[in-house]
Amino acid sequence: MTTIRHTAPLAFPISNNQLMIGGFLASRLAERVGRTPFYAYDRNLVSARIAQLRAALPPEIQLHYAIKANPMPAVVQHLAGLVDGFDVASGGELKTVLDTPMPPDQISFAGPAKSLTELRQAIAAGIVINLESERELRAVTEIGVALGIQPRIAVRVNPDFELKSSGMKMSGGAKQFGIDAERVPAVLAAIKTLDLDFVGFHIFSGSQNLRAEAISEAQEKTLALAARLAHDAPAPVRSLNLGGGFGIPYFPGEQPLDLVAVGERLAELLPAARRELPTAEFIIELGRFIVGEAGVYLCRVVDRKLSRGQVFLVTDGGLHQHLAASGNFGQVIRKNYPVVVANRVSADGEPVTASVVGPLCTPLDVLADKMPLGHAQEGDLIAVLQSGAYGLTASPVDFLGHPTPTEILV
Ligand SMILES: Cc1ncc(COP(=O)(O)O)c(C=O)c1O
Repeated sequence: MTTIRHTAPLAFPISNNQLMIGGFLASRLAERVGRTPFYAYDRNLVSARIAQLRAALPPEIQLHYAIKANPMPAVVQHLAGLVDGFDVASGGELKTVLDTPMPPDQISFAGPAKSLTELRQAIAAGIVINLESERELRAVTEIGVALGIQPRIAVRVNPDFELKSSGMKMSGGAKQFGIDAERVPAVLAAIKTLDLDFVGFHIFSGSQNLRAEAISEAQEKTLALAARLAHDAPAPVRSLNLGGGFGIPYFPGEQPLDLVAVGERLAELLPAARRELPTAEFIIELGRFIVGEAGVYLCRVVDRKLSRGQVFLVTDGGLHQHLAASGNFGQVIRKNYPVVVANRVSADGEPVTASVVGPLCTPLDVLADKMPLGHAQEGDLIAVLQSGAYGLTASPVDFLGHPTPTEILV
């Protein structure tokens, strides 16, 4: 047997040369689901990740889950008992979190282009609206008056720094997110004259970062910026959302984030921050770091083709159901996600170099490009790992009209 290594150690154990998900062999789980493809999320891995975060971060840090990473209702319900708050980005996500026991004042709503209907829903629900613009400030004020409810608001700030070496930068320079830091004092002055419950600031500078120093540097600058802005605040700052950005390794050569180093540096920064912002609770807002490694996408080999010496495993899953693994969700140069043959993880003898492709008629429909894999046959299961975040809901599922995959939490 040859063990095939791709990236960081597999989060899922292996038994009888099969991937085990939530205590089930992959083949048994596929029988239980009754069809492929499907996404499976391991609840124990999600819980373990939260425990890891709690152990590494200072105890007063409030942990919020950004449900855009994985809004499956069962996952969100599971997390409701483990995190301190949720962040939503639409009326649809709002409905999902309001079905959980999470108190409304621990739920925030960020994102540009909030519709008037969504803002009304959010104000009626009593959640915190992270204001992204002066237009949202006007709209929220008018809706508050119309409904006779004082809206809870925080100001989302576009800082004048970025989260260095991030997969996605969401701050610094000109951005569609938040209000530029230099305009925030004027917005705070306006808030002072309005009937609004100001709770604090939301400063989210980026996502998918594997470098602890870069995250710590952004946190340090965020704390300093919030302390400066607090001088102009209409009320004491009760909440400072420091953003998140904690990444997970997807590609060969990537190393996991040094979470302990992030926690230690934050513990050093907090005493001064507490002096500057004595009434504030400090929030870290994470999506993929909480759920990304706990999920797997499973599809079945329909055909094994040989084309001019190259092996193609043609599966019933593909780009339409897992856009990120196909490399078409923000990758500049396509790299392989970790992929294994779920029911033959190690190869019998030398691994086979094979490409895993889907049913779409586009050469973009690739889940693995020339990877060393176990000897797969028709009917075998292919697992795409690191698939718990930005999987199904970040994919164009209707493209070519195949049935939408099931999701399960095991
Ligand atoms: C405001 C906000 N919060 C949280 C997230 C989640 O990021 P991640 O899943 O990388 O933790 C994002 C991602 O785009 C975001 O825009």
